[in-house]
Amino acid sequence: MLGARCLLRAVRFCSSAPCPRHKPSAKLSVRDALRAQNASEERVKVQGWVRSVRSQKEVLFLHVNDGSSLESLQVVADSSLDSRKLTFGSSVEVQGQLVKSPSKRQNVELKAENIDVIGNCDAKTFPIRYKERHPLEYLRQYPHLRCRTNILGSILRIRSEATAAIHSFFKDSGFVHIHTPIITSNDCEGAGELFQLEAAGKIKVPEENFFNVPAFLTVSGQLHLEVMSGAFTQVFTFGPTFRAENSQSRRHLAEFYMIEAEISFVDSLQDLMQVMEKLFKATTMMVLSNCPEDVNLCYKFIAPGQKIRTYAEKQLFNWGIDLQTEHEKYLVKHCGNIPVFVINYPLALKPFYMRDNEDGPQHTVAAVDLLVPGIGELFGGGLREERYHFLEERLARSRLTEVYQWYLDLRRFGSVPHGGFGMGFERYLQCILGVDNIKDVIPFPRFPHSCLL
Ligand code: 4AD
Ligand code: MG
Repeated sequence: MLGARCLLRAVRFCSSAPCPRHKPSAKLSVRDALRAQNASEERVKVQGWVRSVRSQKEVLFLHVNDGSSLESLQVVADSSLDSRKLTFGSSVEVQGQLVKSPSKRQNVELKAENIDVIGNCDAKTFPIRYKERHPLEYLRQYPHLRCRTNILGSILRIRSEATAAIHSFFKDSGFVHIHTPIITSNDCEGAGELFQLEAAGKIKVPEENFFNVPAFLTVSGQLHLEVMSGAFTQVFTFGPTFRAENSQSRRHLAEFYMIEAEISFVDSLQDLMQVMEKLFKATTMMVLSNCPEDVNLCYKFIAPGQKIRTYAEKQLFNWGIDLQTEHEKYLVKHCGNIPVFVINYPLALKPFYMRDNEDGPQHTVAAVDLLVPGIGELFGGGLREERYHFLEERLARSRLTEVYQWYLDLRRFGSVPHGGFGMGFERYLQCILGVDNIKDVIPFPRFPHSCLL
């Protein structure tokens, strides 16, 4: 095993870069090429996919995109470099010089000395048509190709940016990132929406379970995070989550990403709500400042601009029934179409881990949901029952005492008031971008009766 010093030396001095005998063209991404302020003598190489071809008598114009930005790079070439293979969708490598562009639309353009078509694309059979703005429903049929359109390109770049922003927010706020397991033996939410896991082709008798116990794809990393918050105080996880909900709705997926946080020494919902609000705002600010063009494209083609204001608290009036999408929409509208926190739900509606408010006949738990315009529930969370006897009684009532001994241990050994929340990542993207259907903000959507690719 390498000691820390050896490891440092190995990292410093080991390099896979060959010693160049002759200087090759510098490879540039489209984004970096577009950012170049001035023309340069240097020969550069750009690789990507052709977004448009315009052939004039003496000049050939191409637009090349490599996914690094919404904007494509204009390539200008002598018409002798034109070829029948240069079609919309083909992949190319262009070598040449960046020169100042006479057009106001871009700062520089690539004056091509050489254009290689790497892969042909028959524009006649290519499902994405030149200059056509395809509806998102149409593109959904082609999960392997739709990322080459402007709109999916923008959404998925924003998704990547938002992922980084979420990690930065938690890191800057002193949270420890935990990889909670994807395979688990618990049903955290108790809603029975589990996908069970077994080795393919095996007989399904309990004694032959691969793990000796029934195992499932996780519906939430919360319980594992609670373990970790008992050591690290503030923890978070951000990973795939699975629910076997038989819903084709525009806000449900069978596989979605969830951001979950758990914080020790928290005894008020207000403190939790503050973290939820800060996470939402910090992530959104970072997305807006790092990819404004992509966000603008979404607003232009998908939704009118959305404003995020502060939260409001609302008490529920229809006591005892769970909130359906319609109720959520009504509440948000009633409060002026802004994000709304709903707190203190009836105990009977919520999972066993929610903290009992001991508030008489209403009998509520310290749960909080954040509802947002157009989507409904975006965050779900609350304070956890940290008192041993309360929890023991709740588990006994649900006949879960035996399987949750380890969870009771957390209340036996150094228990602290704590709480946390989960935010659906795809619903967050829908909310900030105004995308109507959740299937359009995840690269490969999984939902009942569909698992393409
Ligand atoms: O409200 P949920 O079920 O909360 C939990 O799982 C808690 N254990 C989280 C926690 O406190 N650590 O789910 C949290 C969020 C929802 O508010 C919603 O945004 C999203 O996850 N969500 C879904 N997103 C897409 N498709 C589904 N089927 C979803 N189910 C929940
Ligand atoms: Mg919920």
